[in-house]
Amino acid sequence: MKKNIQVAIDGPASAGKSTVAKILAKKNGFIYCDTGAMYRALTLAAIENNTNMDSEKDLLTLLNQLVISFNQQVDGQHVFLNDRDVTLLIRDNNVTNSVSKVSAYKSIREEMVLRQQKIAESNSIVMDGRDIGTVVLPNASLKIFLVASVTERAERRFKENISKGIDTDFEALKKEISDRDHYDSTRKNSPLVQAEDAILVDTSGLNIEEVVLKIEKLMETAI
Ligand code: CDP
Ligand code: CDP
Repeated sequence: MKKNIQVAIDGPASAGKSTVAKILAKKNGFIYCDTGAMYRALTLAAIENNTNMDSEKDLLTLLNQLVISFNQQVDGQHVFLNDRDVTLLIRDNNVTNSVSKVSAYKSIREEMVLRQQKIAESNSIVMDGRDIGTVVLPNASLKIFLVASVTERAERRFKENISKGIDTDFEALKKEISDRDHYDSTRKNSPLVQAEDAILVDTSGLNIEEVVLKIEKLMETAI
């Protein structure tokens, strides 16, 4: 039987993980799993249900009632919460501002990790997030830790927002990104850290094609 290939991409907010992961998955015929979207979907459900986000137990009860799934459509991958398409809703600022709090709970992470490992079980996959190389896929064929300066990451997200017609204050965006990085990197449960066997790819000054090319070269040798 052919061995499934796992590519793990971790890194801070807006480093380009999902953009690059999607391209790599498409080119190689692998599936793509955006684990951040799963934490975002739970956060959205918590906001909509008025769940107390200070209560790990209430959040876990809510998560146990949710089916979070992905569906490939012509315009890209869509995220579903039970049967509802929440692809756009999970990118809202109110979700972004609370997601790190929700994702810091141990039992929430354990349940998400189980679900993510199940998705990866029977397919070659590119998975991106914060703990993929360290916790979710510790035996991944290739682990990438994608970084860029906070200013560059904020500039990229700023441009993306402008192109979508979203009014954004640059300094506030930069602060949101660095606050979330800090929270994700200093939490007790599976903090954002580079796995020992991950390869650091600094994308500062590199465009998407250049980053993809770099990782493809690494895939050639690792896989
Ligand atoms: O796309 P962006 O970098 O803004 O974030 P994301 O990948 O959608 O992840 C949103 C949040 O989910 C992160 O800031 C983390 O708090 C959490 N997350 C996590 O804890 N572990 C993962 N594997 C993925 C995301
Ligand atoms: O998934 P993550 O939060 O790490 O980042 P992303 O959503 O893939 O990328 C954030 C923004 O940066 C997107 O608008 C990408 O098109 C852009 N980007 C870029 O301009 N240059 C790169 N080398 C990588 C991403």
